[in-house]
Amino acid sequence: MPLLLLMMFSSLMVENCVEEWQALNQSQMMLKACSADGSLKRKKEPEAADDERGKRNEIPELALTPHEIGRRKVNFIFDNAAIKKTLVKKKWKVPCSLDDAEIILRQNKDVNQYRCDILHEALRAILDSPLNRYGLVGAIYVKIENGVLFEVKPQVRIPRTLQRFCGLMMNLLEKSCIRTEGTKEVLLRVIQEPVTRYLPTNSHIIGLSHTSPKVVNIEDYLSAVDDDINLTFVVGTSVLGEINQQYVDDCLTVTNYPLSAKGSIGMICHVLEHKWNIF
Ligand SMILES: C[S@@+](CC[C@H](N)C(=O)[O-])C[C@H]1O[C@@H](n2cnc3c(N)ncnc32)[C@H](O)[C@@H]1O
Repeated sequence: MPLLLLMMFSSLMVENCVEEWQALNQSQMMLKACSADGSLKRKKEPEAADDERGKRNEIPELALTPHEIGRRKVNFIFDNAAIKKTLVKKKWKVPCSLDDAEIILRQNKDVNQYRCDILHEALRAILDSPLNRYGLVGAIYVKIENGVLFEVKPQVRIPRTLQRFCGLMMNLLEKSCIRTEGTKEVLLRVIQEPVTRYLPTNSHIIGLSHTSPKVVNIEDYLSAVDDDINLTFVVGTSVLGEINQQYVDDCLTVTNYPLSAKGSIGMICHVLEHKWNIF
């Protein structure tokens, strides 16, 4: 009897492994490539996956009136993103910091300058947030360490894996613009500095820094800000790098502990979701 149970259990395990392996393969088939004009190409996925993805991407029913949504938008600026390309086997590539550390070290380069995972996580924290799903994220700007500035539209579906995200960054650096295949809608594009020219009037720019002398309870701080003020947060996305404080109106420390970029964005999104009653 125990032998029979053991056999049933092991066959179940094998089935699970096969299913996981198939799911992994399927998600890797979704690799997006850029066409000559910079548009994103996505391979057709099975119908079931389309249905499932459709359900996941449905925008939930609005809790706010269009007028309220128009008034309440938050923008993000990611400063000092460690996105850098390098030659790998005679081909330009944005290395994937975790997988390509060996290649970077072999080239006698600093791995800390190739940390696109920080930006990837930070973007996902915003794009996947209820705040964004309710249409309350206005714009996202990314400043790369080498001076390139680009905009990420809040409706973009960023690649889930770091490897594919690095591929997307490489396409963007080469073509300066990424569009959807069908509608040619711009999803990411390189833009000219200064970033402040794209911010709406009546903006209040808040820099986030672990070393600011102004330590605040961010919930109290944001609840005191009028909804007519356009909030913009500046968050660092390099390993240690501080944000550029030249154009910020206020620089805040939100906890005495150093957070990751993803962690500090999560905190801001959560507080704003609470302030604006989004669940
Ligand atoms: C310097 S990056 C560090 C990147 C980190 N290695 C990672 O994996 O995300 C983190 C950014 O989050 C923000 N941050 C971190 N700790 C903070 C704190 N205690 N208060 C306010 N902002 C903070 C700052 O904008 C900072 O530049």
